[in-house]
Amino acid sequence: MTRFYSATLRKHDRAAFSSGNERIDTYFRQTVSQDVKRGYAACYVLVEQAGGKIAGFYTLSSHTIPLTEVPPEMARELPRYPSVPAVLIGWLGRDIAFRGQHVGSMLLADAIARLAASPVGAHAICADAIDDAAAAFYATHRFQRFVSRPLSLYLPMKTATALVAKHRKTASP
Ligand SMILES: CC(C)(COP(=O)(O)OP(=O)(O)OC[C@H]1O[C@@H](n2cnc3c(N)ncnc32)[C@H](O)[C@@H]1OP(=O)(O)O)[C@@H](O)C(=O)NCCC(=O)NCCS
Repeated sequence: MTRFYSATLRKHDRAAFSSGNERIDTYFRQTVSQDVKRGYAACYVLVEQAGGKIAGFYTLSSHTIPLTEVPPEMARELPRYPSVPAVLIGWLGRDIAFRGQHVGSMLLADAIARLAASPVGAHAICADAIDDAAAAFYATHRFQRFVSRPLSLYLPMKTATALVAKHRKTASP
């Protein structure tokens, strides 16, 4: 049995969640449910099977990237629309109690698998990093920084789904 399951945020206990980053913790404890209600974001949690504790969460929102911000080699392959459809990982955090257990990577893999299964088209996944360390975390997962905004990163959906497929191959017995 796997140690965690992923679910849409519902009546989970968010009060004790602590990623170590005050802005992320305040957002998750106090604001995320309003964003969900208003349709600004969808929020998913990774929950520990044994104790029901939230190990981490992330939000997804629809997003667009101006075509002028896409690197020229990639832009050449895209239709000449002014913007490129994408999905934004606006917030993501892992509870410090689960440090060293690759929960951050699991959250990203879960987001990618969810998006790959979605019938809505998106060319890329974007992420807003809260600081340089968060941007470095995304960069180790092959997200590239936008030249004009180094704390905003993106990963073409094609690369994302290939990464998850490779991980599944490696993970199977
Ligand atoms: C960023 C965060 C989600 C990473 O979670 P995690 O569970 O430690 O991540 P993982 O163990 O799955 O990390 C996978 C890889 O990412 C890289 N990585 C993780 N945190 C990193 C950091 N702060 N700086 C640079 N690289 C990092 C490492 O290479 C790591 O590989 P390793 O296990 O071989 O060292 C977590 O530290 C966190 O919640 N931080 C506070 C909130 C935050 O910054 N959120 C980011 C989005 S705004």
